Amino acid sequence: MGLLDRFRKKEEEPDIKVDQGVLIQEFKKNYEIVDKYDINKPLASVKIAKHQSLGEGLHYFVDEAPLNEQEFNSFKKIMDILGKEMHPPADMEMNPKDYVFDEAGKVAEKYYRALGKFTGAGWDKLFYYVVRDLAGYGPLNVMMFDPNIEDISYNGLNTPVYVWHRKYESIPTNIIFTNEQTANDLIVKLAHKCSKHISSATPLLDGMLPEKHRLSATFMKEVSQKGSTFCIRKFRADPFSVVDLIKIGTINERIAAYFWLLLEHKMSFMIIGGTGAGKTSMLNALLSLMSQNDKLVTVEEVPELTPPLTNWTQLHSRQSFQFGQTSAHSINIFDLVKVSLRYRPDYIIVGEIRGEEAYTLFQALATGHGGLCTMHADSLDNVVKRLTSPPMNVSRVYIPLMNSALHVQRVELPQEKEGLTFGRRVRTIWEIEEFDQYREVAIWNPRSDVFETWFEDSVLLERIATGSGVSKQAILDELEARTKFISEIVGEGIHDQKQVAEKMLSYYTMKKEEKDERSSDKKTGRKRKEEISEKSKSIEELLSSVVSDEAKQEQEGPKLGRAAMLGNRDPIPRQSKKNETE
Ligand SMILES: Nc1ncnc2c1ncn2[C@@H]1O[C@H](COP(=O)(O)OP(=O)(O)OP(=O)(O)O)[C@@H](O)[C@H]1O
Ligand SMILES: [Mg+2]
Repeated sequence: MGLLDRFRKKEEEPDIKVDQGVLIQEFKKNYEIVDKYDINKPLASVKIAKHQSLGEGLHYFVDEAPLNEQEFNSFKKIMDILGKEMHPPADMEMNPKDYVFDEAGKVAEKYYRALGKFTGAGWDKLFYYVVRDLAGYGPLNVMMFDPNIEDISYNGLNTPVYVWHRKYESIPTNIIFTNEQTANDLIVKLAHKCSKHISSATPLLDGMLPEKHRLSATFMKEVSQKGSTFCIRKFRADPFSVVDLIKIGTINERIAAYFWLLLEHKMSFMIIGGTGAGKTSMLNALLSLMSQNDKLVTVEEVPELTPPLTNWTQLHSRQSFQFGQTSAHSINIFDLVKVSLRYRPDYIIVGEIRGEEAYTLFQALATGHGGLCTMHADSLDNVVKRLTSPPMNVSRVYIPLMNSALHVQRVELPQEKEGLTFGRRVRTIWEIEEFDQYREVAIWNPRSDVFETWFEDSVLLERIATGSGVSKQAILDELEARTKFISEIVGEGIHDQKQVAEKMLSYYTMKKEEKDERSSDKKTGRKRKEEISEKSKSIEELLSSVVSDEAKQEQEGPKLGRAAMLGNRDPIPRQSKKNETE
């Protein structure tokens, strides 16, 4: 081999593959880029692209800075050393990424001769991969930290990992697992991150990752023909608030004001919709409309709800760790709903009802508690049918105890909104009057993308009016006042759920102040009237006494002047003055 050949060979040498057992499809120059953004500049970015050779539709390309051979060797050495020398952090609260980064830095200082010479950017690249593989998600890391990704699914070997992109919906990625052991190792690692266990003996897993993402996984070929599978449903670190939902058009101010009134009067409602329709996000957002004095218990399989209240007990189910058939040590939603009743909450909130816990929840409603829940269903009819059949077995007469239901759905938008052609909308709001009698009080119009509401026909608002001893019109006026107040909050640009809840509180303070002002106005008015009448009374008395004094004086001769008496001042000097002038 000549020198030139050797040089050419070196130039063409492919970058080293950091991930073994994974095929990362390369991005080619002739692909048409539709979108491009950084995730960890300059080391990781994403390209959304299309090309005939890729087939129809868009593709998600993870693009990470490649390592050359020398960098790869040093990366391997650091990983080996950390594997032997790294101990768990003394402070368990410490962010694992920061800890691994610090430890990798120490290794680089200690072994710099053996690791080789790198520029600052070179070290950054090495540390990026170390942190990615030890404290992150390896080849899935970019999608895990891409805020546009809602979920990640792995369906088996030799097929691309799929993502659900906020803008482009479900698209394949350039990451393909090709080795069974690599995929299984990753799933075991994910299970450990959830502090859970997955194996051939217990091949099903439902857990929560440290960033609160939900993980569902199956292990090997126990329950899935194609081997291990998983789906990660990503949790928004910054959950949707009511203001966010109004801004993106999922609900409007009037609907938010309606639920605010229902919550204030301890009414119960459920949110229904398909998978990933946004049921939990809607429930969570509406919780910021709850009164700060309310006591809540949330019951969930995986804790997702974050009500901005302090008087809140958060319960979640537990899987048994025991091998074999017994589930004696599992605590399920049904057990927790029963326990929650003993906490005497104002509201019991069940993340999602699926089974016999529905029966207990309705029992709770019948004993005067408020109840909120979500349920996987696409119509209220189906909900009621399921509720009244086994295993839920809710009696028909109990159905109207769930006062209202709202249906949230992923929909195609008639016109693009903020670059999106689809969105989530509250399709219908019903009030449940009887077992089979529902009243539509709001719908979303798919042609105009606006909500139509008939709250003036609402039976619940009427019930609130009767209970509060006011007219229905007064409640409708209150609904309008709250709608206006929410519009102002939306206009102020506040969006954080806690801040929104604080703002809502200020509505009550404002109302109280207005009321106090009105009653103090009334009081001052009354007092002033009393004072005036008191004064005029005393003037009259004085005048009459003066008149009688003058009459006396006429008989006895002058003593006190009229002005001195009326002014009620010390009469002596005046008297002397009067005497002087006299
Ligand atoms: N109104 C919305 N607009 C845009 N995205 C939303 C909206 N609501 C929820 N999402 C996103 O949709 C995904 C699913 O949301 P969520 O978990 O609330 O749905 P879900 O109906 O409760 O799902 P599941 O059926 O798993 O319980 C999340 O990624 C969330 O960020
Ligand atoms: Mg949910």
